[in-house]
Amino acid sequence: MRYKLLGKSGLRVSELCLGTMTFGETWGWGASLDESEKIFRRFSEAGGNFIDTSCNYTEGTSETFLGEFLGANRDSFVVATKYTLTKTTSTDPNSGGNSRKNMMRSVESSLRRLRTDYLDILYLHVWDYMTPVDEVLRGLDDLVRQGKTAYIAVSDTPAYIVAQANMLAELRGWAAFIGLQAPYSLNRRDIERELLPMAKHWGMGVMPWGVIGGGVLTGKYDETDDESPKRYDPARMTVRERTRAIIDAVKAVSEETGHSRAQVAINWVRQQQHQAQIVPIIGARTVAQLEDNLGVLAWTLTDAQLQRLSEASAIDLGFPHDFTPGNPYIYGATYDLIDKRP
Ligand SMILES: NC(=O)c1ccc[n+]([C@@H]2O[C@H](COP(=O)([O-])OP(=O)(O)OC[C@H]3O[C@@H](n4cnc5c(N)ncnc54)[C@H](OP(=O)(O)O)[C@@H]3O)[C@@H](O)[C@H]2O)c1
Repeated sequence: MRYKLLGKSGLRVSELCLGTMTFGETWGWGASLDESEKIFRRFSEAGGNFIDTSCNYTEGTSETFLGEFLGANRDSFVVATKYTLTKTTSTDPNSGGNSRKNMMRSVESSLRRLRTDYLDILYLHVWDYMTPVDEVLRGLDDLVRQGKTAYIAVSDTPAYIVAQANMLAELRGWAAFIGLQAPYSLNRRDIERELLPMAKHWGMGVMPWGVIGGGVLTGKYDETDDESPKRYDPARMTVRERTRAIIDAVKAVSEETGHSRAQVAINWVRQQQHQAQIVPIIGARTVAQLEDNLGVLAWTLTDAQLQRLSEASAIDLGFPHDFTPGNPYIYGATYDLIDKRP
């Protein structure tokens, strides 16, 4: 395991982050306490220090398990949690969302479950399209000043909101977002349009989730003879034609390299560092899956393999990406610009 300075911060995180949405069986498809502990310990043994959870994962069980596993070693880990989400059955209008009220309440309960008095990273989990950006940023900055979180980051939020927030933070001397979380995989590349260029522009680390499409990219829903337990009910899963072509490319590269399909999918994401700084979040329901996924640290895809996978999964970036490059009305006649910015 190697380490990265996350975004523009001085925080040193392992090059893979451990996702803990699988810790606990409350949602019907996670890992028991015992298996979760094995996953956590194996990740730590491999040198992983970066752990991702949320106030709502498995209805709080994920944070509770993590609090137990961290124990006296809490300071050696970079613990990231999130606030925003509530229970779908809640009738309290303030129990979810991005408001300062929910933020403060949620952080206190996360700290209790995690058995710690500080977070390393607090994410805003999902943009609620209601709370003013300055209310959010000022609240998050207060939490940093109070020492309840060392850094702040943002997840599942439009690029224009994140950019406004970072500009506001810069102008007002508030803490700014050091990282971004969003879905990114061979099967889901839409963040290449706005969010990844935005993250690169602002020097934010990107922690992609769903890098193997919740398991779909391993082909386990595509092959009827695969009897292993799965997160989604196979009877209700429809694998689209486009996804099937991507799974085929993953299979082909897996056979060529002798590495698992999960590793191929993770490494494609891990090797998109030209798009932005990428620290993939690895999800595992069993320690065997984690072991497999950690295998990515030992190898990389060749340029030809990357190209094959990228071609099979290509998306249309659309406007303005297809409008500006090479436009003679912007750049004038051909000339040698030797100091070209990306
Ligand atoms: N910010 C957000 O909104 C957000 C959303 C989702 C997740 N996350 C974070 O990202 C983490 C990862 O997300 P994710 O679990 O959706 O992503 P994922 O890594 O695409 O999927 C993980 C699932 O794939 C299967 N799997 C894992 N390794 C495998 C392997 N080697 N071979 C075959 N199957 C394998 C397991 O499901 P089976 O049960 O099918 O075996 C596992 O639970 C979460 O734990 C969480 O921390 C964040």
